[in-house]
Amino acid sequence: MSLKLENKIAVITGAGSGIGRAMAMLFAGQGAVVHLLDFDQKGGEEVAKEIQNTGGKAAFHFTNVADFAGVATIFETIGKVDILINNAGIAHVGSLENCGLDDFEKVYQVNVRGVYNCLHAALPTMKNQKSGVILNLASVASSIGIPDRFAYSMSKGAVVGMTLSVARDYVTDGIRCNCISPGRVHTPFVDGFIAKNYPGQEKEMFQKLSVSQPVGRMGTPEEIAKLALFLCSDDGSFITGADYAIDGGFVNLKM
Ligand SMILES: NC(=O)c1ccc[n+]([C@@H]2O[C@H](COP(=O)([O-])OP(=O)(O)OC[C@H]3O[C@@H](n4cnc5c(N)ncnc54)[C@H](O)[C@@H]3O)[C@@H](O)[C@H]2O)c1
Repeated sequence: MSLKLENKIAVITGAGSGIGRAMAMLFAGQGAVVHLLDFDQKGGEEVAKEIQNTGGKAAFHFTNVADFAGVATIFETIGKVDILINNAGIAHVGSLENCGLDDFEKVYQVNVRGVYNCLHAALPTMKNQKSGVILNLASVASSIGIPDRFAYSMSKGAVVGMTLSVARDYVTDGIRCNCISPGRVHTPFVDGFIAKNYPGQEKEMFQKLSVSQPVGRMGTPEEIAKLALFLCSDDGSFITGADYAIDGGFVNLKM
């Protein structure tokens, strides 16, 4: 069986955990050379090692995606990029009233500026080679009003907007750009915000968040990775400027 990403150079941000980790493992298994960018040194190095131990090609780069100059330097080191996945992201729970300027700025710096920084750094090489695929992680929070997600929804709306703009402007350069909007996916991201925001009610909140998907459960990182592989491989060659829901029916099916 032929591999779908043989020798493709893939950069995945936030690859030290959750969805990013699952994508890195799957992409490496399909022959990609995976560059894992994360500011969790331990997590990122562990995933890179796991990939190498199973015969895959991976390199970890300590990165804060919010740091424009730092990101630019890392992309210079990497050189050619065939696939960029902007996956690193942070959560914030709170309405407008509960979202202070610091909270807002923090979410903006990672979820919006971080995407801008990586897009900016990867574009020249993709334009040069007249090919490239970009996949951004948006969220169901970009298209429907989820309670207490003011800053997070702002950031994911911006991700969808940036996706469309890049897809439009570089379609004639052979660059495809899409995003995916997951519903709840069981990762440390979800466990972390439940623990932080609902202490003592972890079990109830986990159950509540699970059944809010009409399919009755959260997604798995591996399910998201499979859609990412489809969109980033030649299987998705006719797809650009799209925002794919992968949410167990969360947005489109009434409960
Ligand atoms: N899990 C969900 O339910 C869900 C739903 C919709 C969208 N998403 C989106 O999917 C993406 C991945 O989520 P996840 O659940 O796998 O999260 P996660 O917390 O498990 O992993 C996120 C990774 O990003 C890294 N990261 C965070 N800030 C960074 C920074 N400034 N620079 C570099 N790395 C940074 C973290 O260290 C971590 O390894 C996020 O963009 C998130 O918003 C997640």
